Amino acid sequence: MISPSSVAGVKKIMYAFSSLNDLGQIITSNGGFEEVTKSGLYLILGTVSAAQGAIFRDDGARSRLVVLAHKGVDGATSFRLSLHDGDAEALVDAPGVVEIRRAPQNLNSFISHNGATLTALRAALMVPLRVGGNLVGLMTVGARFSGGDYTDDDLQILAMMSQQLSVGLSNHQLFQSLQKKAEENRALYEDLQDIYNDTVRAFAAAIDAKDRYTQGHSDRVARYAVAIAEELGLPQDEVEALRLGGLLHDIGKITVDTSIIRKNSVLTDRELLEMHRHPTVGFDILSKINFPWGDLSALTRHHHEKVDGNGYPDGIRGEDLLLGARIIALADAFDAMTTDRPYRKQISLQETLREIRRCVGTQFDPRVAKTLFQVIEKELTGRSRKPAIIPSLREKFDSQRIREILQEVHDDCGYPGMA
Ligand SMILES: [Fe+2]
Repeated sequence: MISPSSVAGVKKIMYAFSSLNDLGQIITSNGGFEEVTKSGLYLILGTVSAAQGAIFRDDGARSRLVVLAHKGVDGATSFRLSLHDGDAEALVDAPGVVEIRRAPQNLNSFISHNGATLTALRAALMVPLRVGGNLVGLMTVGARFSGGDYTDDDLQILAMMSQQLSVGLSNHQLFQSLQKKAEENRALYEDLQDIYNDTVRAFAAAIDAKDRYTQGHSDRVARYAVAIAEELGLPQDEVEALRLGGLLHDIGKITVDTSIIRKNSVLTDRELLEMHRHPTVGFDILSKINFPWGDLSALTRHHHEKVDGNGYPDGIRGEDLLLGARIIALADAFDAMTTDRPYRKQISLQETLREIRRCVGTQFDPRVAKTLFQVIEKELTGRSRKPAIIPSLREKFDSQRIREILQEVHDDCGYPGMA
């Protein structure tokens, strides 16, 4: 304890406790860590009337300590204290405050190989900063302003203040390592996400590669499905499920004979049967995978269903059909109509819109069809804030004609959003 043997001693105790309190507030403040440490050092040096000092911290390499804050020494920013074998242990075992010229023997090596730096710092005292038996840093303190030795009270004050400093330093190091870990985990998650997306895209490309006419089909279906889902205001996880569903909806075609897929004439009954198996094969493949978003296997199974119940494989009708399946079904048909196929050439966008309109209520869900029309209408009038689903729509097509068709559909169905 600090000895209250005189009025001056009592004053010193009160000043020390006041400083200790101030140091606690500085260390727990929200300031930048280097600023906080610098304020702490200035307060500690002021409390024991020292002109120079520095605070070092372990930089994580465990072989050296680097300067965090300093006072009264030019160029100290680049100073380092190296830790050789046994130095950290010796500093952990050392007294709270070490007078360099009376240091315990096991610190001689540390003091010797850091002699030049300690001299440049004009260090008279070393205060190891430790928490839970670990060295987190070190503080050096120069000679007293007034000259002469430090008193035992000074040393005790320094030891108490250094404990607060040690905890602050340790907390900061913990926080930094947690931040680093969180950053590493985030990067790892992004890498996994990229691998996942690349794998799904590779699958989609493998499906499309079976048919030269459908290059990029899965990608476009995903794009249309996402645009419809976003326009409908579906939650983000359902939008993501539709993106993956669009990419993988035809995965069952991997087992269909390529000659059937590429055939440019009418399919025989046997070939049609084979072709119509792809939704259930896709379901069998995807139902074995635990996707984090939505039921992709169900989307794949039902992408050839029709709302009047005349689709395949299960003949599900109306609202019993998953909304996602109704969206993929329309996106799939929209792409099929607007691209060349082995058995026919593509039809124009105008004809496609008319065909969709004709099939609303039988093949397509009215709300989903209206939403696709809205997306196209927004794109046509430049009101869409999303990436275009039909590149160069306004340049490639007769905007006026398409708007007229959309207006006709609007008059029929009254979908919102038309000018
Ligand atoms: Fe299909």
